[in-house]
Amino acid sequence: MKVIIRNTMKEASVWAARYIAEKINAKAARTSEPFVLGLCTGSTPIETYNELIRLVKAGSVSFKNVVSFNMDEYVGLPVEHPESYHSFMHKYLFDHIDEPAANIHILDGNAPDLAAECAAYEQAIEKAGGFDLFLGGVGEDGHIAFNEPFSSLQSRTRVISLTPQTREVNSRFFDNDPAKVPAQALSVGVATVMDAREVVVLAFGSKKANALRAAVEGPVSHYCTLSALQMHPAGIIACDDAAAGELRVNSYRYFKATE
Ligand code: GLP
Repeated sequence: MKVIIRNTMKEASVWAARYIAEKINAKAARTSEPFVLGLCTGSTPIETYNELIRLVKAGSVSFKNVVSFNMDEYVGLPVEHPESYHSFMHKYLFDHIDEPAANIHILDGNAPDLAAECAAYEQAIEKAGGFDLFLGGVGEDGHIAFNEPFSSLQSRTRVISLTPQTREVNSRFFDNDPAKVPAQALSVGVATVMDAREVVVLAFGSKKANALRAAVEGPVSHYCTLSALQMHPAGIIACDDAAAGELRVNSYRYFKATE
């Protein structure tokens, strides 16, 4: 695992966006196959998306041959709700780049048969050729996508019951009322993310510092599902100084020196 540490969120976000753009361009230079990209929501990726939008507008990268799959969506929240991940993705990324609408995939949290929706999503990812790169965030409890503590590290896309802690944390988007946060979500599994050829996880701010320490220095454990990244051959965490604040001094120095 690599940990890329930058002083600020902005700097780490710019690093991540440029890294993704380079990967898209590198694949485009060698094949006409689409670049399959996993995407996340939350406050964390917004600056990365801003930089990707800037790069698209500057002509430095194109999403015309990118196929994307988002990692999660709330169950039962109308698609047009401002806090649905459909709304989020259009507002912060898709409305500003050249990715064809047909290439955009987001789980349908209102599907009549949620299990069938999840199974079809896994099949669609496989049919697209699997993820070239998965961009993720991390919850304060170390969850990747909505893979809450005790999610199997072999899990696949499925319905998840959100923990009270996650509903509390996400209530900031729902009038600060945890009861308004949907109790369930659809999420890709830990194994779905780990199947990606590369995984880049963003973590910013001191609220993520304990999760980062557990994921980087702790054991591989279903209690912190991001810790599965330790088993990935090409896993990167891009963070700011604050999120790296609970790493041991020697770990911090190692990652700074070896980048
Ligand atoms: C939610 C999302 C995750 C995201 C996490 C962190 O639980 N399902 O995909 O990584 O929140 O959110 P934020 O970036 O707002 O801290």
